[in-house]
Amino acid sequence: SPRKRTAYVCTSCGADYPKWQGQCEACGAWNTLSEIALDAAAATSAAPARRGSWAGKIDAAKITPLVDVQQSEIQRASTGIGEFDRVLGGGLVEGAVVLIGGDPGIGKSTLLLQALGEMSGRSRGLYVTGEESLAQVAGRALRLGLSLDGLEALAETCVERILEQAAVARPGFIIADSIQTLWTDTLTAAPGSVSQVRESAARLVRYAKETGTAVFLVGHVTKEGGIAGPRVLEHMVDAVLYFEGDSGSRFRVLRAFKNRFGAVNELGVFAMGDKGLREVPNPSAIFLSGGSARQPGSCVMVTREGTRPLLVEVQALVDGSPLSNPRRVAVGLEGNRLAMLLAVLHRHGGVLTSDQDVFVNVVGGIRVQETAADLPVLLAVLSSLRNQPLAEKTIAFGEVGLSGEIRPVPNGEERLKEAATHGFKRAIVPKANAPKAGTYKGMEVIAVERLADALEAA
Ligand code: TYD
Ligand code: MG
Repeated sequence: SPRKRTAYVCTSCGADYPKWQGQCEACGAWNTLSEIALDAAAATSAAPARRGSWAGKIDAAKITPLVDVQQSEIQRASTGIGEFDRVLGGGLVEGAVVLIGGDPGIGKSTLLLQALGEMSGRSRGLYVTGEESLAQVAGRALRLGLSLDGLEALAETCVERILEQAAVARPGFIIADSIQTLWTDTLTAAPGSVSQVRESAARLVRYAKETGTAVFLVGHVTKEGGIAGPRVLEHMVDAVLYFEGDSGSRFRVLRAFKNRFGAVNELGVFAMGDKGLREVPNPSAIFLSGGSARQPGSCVMVTREGTRPLLVEVQALVDGSPLSNPRRVAVGLEGNRLAMLLAVLHRHGGVLTSDQDVFVNVVGGIRVQETAADLPVLLAVLSSLRNQPLAEKTIAFGEVGLSGEIRPVPNGEERLKEAATHGFKRAIVPKANAPKAGTYKGMEVIAVERLADALEAA
């Protein structure tokens, strides 16, 4: 009988191990290792023949001096959706495998179906649906206002059969919606298990590289971990894009977390409407809560995620805690960063929150990853604690260091300009980001060097 070969994969970060262990060394999570069966075929001599059966020409590997390698610009095809191209790094690259993750219902299928429609005529795409029937896909395409002419779909979940069809039809790109529904007949594990998801993805990746076909993999993010999430695939693919957004808001943000062909942290912004996702090419002010009244616990910041400045509102709620270990909850920001900032606020600002629950939320379901959020977070916390709103039309940005210094952030002038354009009257910013004159296009700019100065200015 064939030897059963297994390995263990961390379902939270994708690291793999030859043996089971209680804690993942890569991400520190406990009890997240899941057993996977290794592809039995890969261990036998029959494997190379199988591999070639559907593939096109495979170049035998040979050592090549790099000077002999022709430098050609990477060929990119536009998806026909500007915000999508932006996140991909300028368009879709031949043979690239792009993982698109996000909560169920956030709009992954919608975006890819729209891209299929936009690209039809220029590139032949194959929409492989494992979740919805062909009738549902066609119905959705019609609702999106797409012409069905030239659109092709395949309702199939077995990877081998998908690749057989692809070998004949030779599409320019394939959309696999979703990777969690796919399975390969070389494994007996259930579809959706870590082994099936990994092996199915591995086969599609191999096909993509051998044929130059671009592949989109849709992956649902799962909180329970019952079904293998997209994290276990991140290291196998060329680009990882995640969809973010509040279920209560129609805005959706697509963010590149990994991109072998472009910049990471680039954002694409969309609004979900009755005709699907609409691009928001000037997203600057959409993440303000809209309430014009000044509220305690709110501070507007100018963040620069990707290549555009965005005005984003940070809200804090600070409330006396009955707990001996008060809660610190950060939504849209890193929790550890919040804990660190509260410690700096105590030590260098003299403001104690250790007997308070502190909740911080970034409005609109967007995630802010840059340290320019530090100062606005602390100003929002202070404002909530004192129950006093900040002065009207005030923005802030700046990194807060452990010794209470306010550090400059990149692109200060661009941020000030964005705030001035949107009618803000007052800015509290790091000294090195402030113009000498103390004003910028009619906006008062307060330069701060220490946290204590900033708290006083606020
Ligand atoms: P969908 O693309 O199916 O999400 P995913 O593939 O990420 O699970 O998006 C589904 C949601 O989008 C659903 O709640 C309905 C909504 N929607 C619209 O509001 N307008 C539309 O035109 C479409 C197609 C969907
Ligand atoms: Mg879907």
